[in-house]
Amino acid sequence: MNLKPLPIADEKLGLAVLKRLIRERSLLAALAMMHEHVGDTFQITLPGFQPAVLVGPQVNRTVLVSDRAQFLWRNEKDPVAKLLRQGILVQDGAAHDEVRQVMDPVLQRPSLLPHLPGMVHTTDKIIAQWPPDGVVDMLVEMRRLALLILMEAAFGVNMWPDLDRMWTPILKTIKYISPGLWILWPAMPRPGYQKALQQMDTYLFGLIAKRRSEIKEWQAAQSSDLLTTLILAGFDDDLIRDQLLTMLIAGHDTSTASLTWTLYLLAQHPEHMASAKAEVDAVLGDEPPGEAHLNSFEFLDMAFKEALRLYPPIHVGNRIAASDLGVAGYEVKAGTRVMYSIYLAHRDKKHWENPEAFCPHRFDKHTHGRSSQPPLTYVPFGGGPRNCIGAIFAQIEARIVLARILQKVDLHLVPGQKIRPAMGATLEPEPGVKMVISRR
Ligand code: HEM
Repeated sequence: MNLKPLPIADEKLGLAVLKRLIRERSLLAALAMMHEHVGDTFQITLPGFQPAVLVGPQVNRTVLVSDRAQFLWRNEKDPVAKLLRQGILVQDGAAHDEVRQVMDPVLQRPSLLPHLPGMVHTTDKIIAQWPPDGVVDMLVEMRRLALLILMEAAFGVNMWPDLDRMWTPILKTIKYISPGLWILWPAMPRPGYQKALQQMDTYLFGLIAKRRSEIKEWQAAQSSDLLTTLILAGFDDDLIRDQLLTMLIAGHDTSTASLTWTLYLLAQHPEHMASAKAEVDAVLGDEPPGEAHLNSFEFLDMAFKEALRLYPPIHVGNRIAASDLGVAGYEVKAGTRVMYSIYLAHRDKKHWENPEAFCPHRFDKHTHGRSSQPPLTYVPFGGGPRNCIGAIFAQIEARIVLARILQKVDLHLVPGQKIRPAMGATLEPEPGVKMVISRR
């Protein structure tokens, strides 16, 4: 096959993109410009950073399904591989598949249902701490909530007593793997993280040791949590630490962003907020949300899906080309960093009407079936056999948490805030989302 070199920006466009990058301080806007002017496949040509960027359902199929063995997850140069070591997120081939097989059942619906009352209880405790008629930063609150829920539901660990102590180490750990200068200079020294990373390890190894000492009781109680499951599967402490840290970060930072964005977008659109509340009241009355209600939050679910479309917490999937490849007729050399952009695919005019607008009803299966869209156009959880292992967890958690919050409080955005999506480890609202809370 005759492969063409990857398209790049010409000098004029390159300059315009650079100007936009500097003016708006937004890599997203710069990438959107490249997508608009160069096409669905292009290469960035910064010194030291020359990834192939791929956009759309066809290339998603290549990376996630048909040629997936050619796209490696592990990149030794990325801090995420240094941090997570043998964690499921940075492994390839058999080493990945073995871990995934052990962990998958724990994150399926039947294993999660017993945790719904706990999710409601934790949400209630967080809401109870909000000052009546006061202001909270929803990004901080959703992080606290997502952490507590993940630790309880996935690991069987009550994190309340450790939350304050572990807050800074967790934020530092996330910063360590977030995009930064290291992308251009992989060998750059990164002082200032050692203490936080050490505190994370001490915490996690402590949890593992405690669970090992109580394993008979947990086994007798037939606990299907991840920590017990990994111990019973015979994993050693280091391998368990790697999976726990992976799940702790991947499982709460994403939920933090998606819950915050959903509340932000609803608060920005009072008509949609009113529909969501009316639905929650009609479905729940005075009852707490639970298993019986999970499939009844149609509007809330559409709003959550739409928030994931506009602000996908994982806005890009990173890979390394395992060998010289052809992608959509273009040549991708072995070792090239490949990024499939979820953010750009979700805002592509070719596939979405009025893509920049928040329209939950575009996910209404009764009126707006998306059947005309090619598969893998909407990929907030990735796709193919290696899609997000926590997708069911995240969707159940979102319904329970959002329904409970809307049932209990009214939320309004503090006026005059300048909020923009920032590329951390996830796509987060920066600098946070201040909201005025009043009890309903
Ligand atoms: C709204 C919430 C979430 C979003 C949007 C999300 C998104 C994603 C995406 C897009 C991927 C694939 C990335 C790629 O192809 O490069 C992924 C993978 C993954 N996610 Fe999630 N995620 C969410 C919640 C969770 C939760 C709750 C957990 C854990 C309980 C989790 C754990 C993981 C792991 C371990 C992987 C790697 C799976 C593998 O390689 O086999 N995620 N996630």
